[in-house]
Amino acid sequence: MQQVMLICRPGFEAEAGQELTDQAASVGVFGYFQPVRNSGLVRFSIAGDEKPEELMSRLALGDLVFVRDWFAILGDCPLPAQDRVGAVVEFLRDRNWDGTLCARVEVRLPETNADRDLGNFSKKWMAPLSKGLRGAGLLKADANAVSRGRLEILLTGFEQAIIGFSLAGNRSPFVGGVPRLRLSASAPSRSALKLEEAWKVFLPRDRWLDYLGGGKKAVDLGAAPGGWTWQLVNQGMMVTAVDNGPMQPELMASGHVEHVEADGYAWRPKRAVDWMVCDIVDKPRRTARLAVDWMAGKRCRYTVFNLKLPMKKRYEEWLACRELIIEGLAEAGLNCRLSARHLYHDREEITCFIERLD
Ligand SMILES: C[S@@+](CC[C@H](N)C(=O)[O-])C[C@H]1O[C@@H](n2cnc3c(N)ncnc32)[C@H](O)[C@@H]1O
Repeated sequence: MQQVMLICRPGFEAEAGQELTDQAASVGVFGYFQPVRNSGLVRFSIAGDEKPEELMSRLALGDLVFVRDWFAILGDCPLPAQDRVGAVVEFLRDRNWDGTLCARVEVRLPETNADRDLGNFSKKWMAPLSKGLRGAGLLKADANAVSRGRLEILLTGFEQAIIGFSLAGNRSPFVGGVPRLRLSASAPSRSALKLEEAWKVFLPRDRWLDYLGGGKKAVDLGAAPGGWTWQLVNQGMMVTAVDNGPMQPELMASGHVEHVEADGYAWRPKRAVDWMVCDIVDKPRRTARLAVDWMAGKRCRYTVFNLKLPMKKRYEEWLACRELIIEGLAEAGLNCRLSARHLYHDREEITCFIERLD
């Protein structure tokens, strides 16, 4: 049975599995999934003859919301303590692995791993493993050579790994699928990391200046205490922060922030701005309608907003919000790009991005 390993936030296995089942069906690949509760891992089994890489090349990871990363599974590999590298070499040779496909190997751990010894081992193991695989001709000779794929080794314990490969340009851009962002001591809240990750995920790296630079104007709805506003100010923007709660005084002292005490759902700017961001905890469809209203009225060009998902039917709620947004933007006659993702720093919410393209 051909399988794809899906990686998601622990607790969201059913959503990731449902999403891939639907998306795969939309490109003519049928299958089913086996979630292991709270593992952050889902095996998606393909029912037909398609190979995992065929399915993965018909879909873009960037279009999936709950699947944060994925790789094609080659199989489960026991790792005997006396020669783990040898076991991986043998495993790949048994499968006639083509050593020209990958230049590098990545060793990753399940997000739920709490075993520090295994964490230390995974880091130390990288060098001898890479050397062993390269020496055996199972990786390209030059680690920096352009390659179609990357070998993936998911260590589920000292004695067991799931081995597979991911495809260049269609996998998480972060090492191990986890963006390692550092929270600055001056950030007013941890939420600041969410907006930073959203930009990293949604904005092309070489165009950050176009999106964020040049002294843009922004509105932050539900801004207090100011983590998102702080990120916008750090990009040189002038920000209107709408919230009845208090903003961090140091941030207000920057002179870049106007604090408006009002209801974020009702308040509108007198003039259009570049960015509207919204982190209000409320019903997701209400926030989705708000975003459509701002875009339809051309009150902003870009928006990042959170949809706080309910405990049950989280996937269905996202589908309902997506339909509402797509229909709303179409009714307004706008050409927009909508992206959404369950970010690493998101919990019971997903983050959406819309940009007007004309
Ligand atoms: C999750 S916090 C926002 C955190 C903020 N993004 C940060 O980075 O510090 C949600 C905020 O939404 C505000 N809020 C809730 N309902 C609101 C509404 N209808 N209008 C404006 N703000 C609202 C709350 O006062 C709270 O400060």
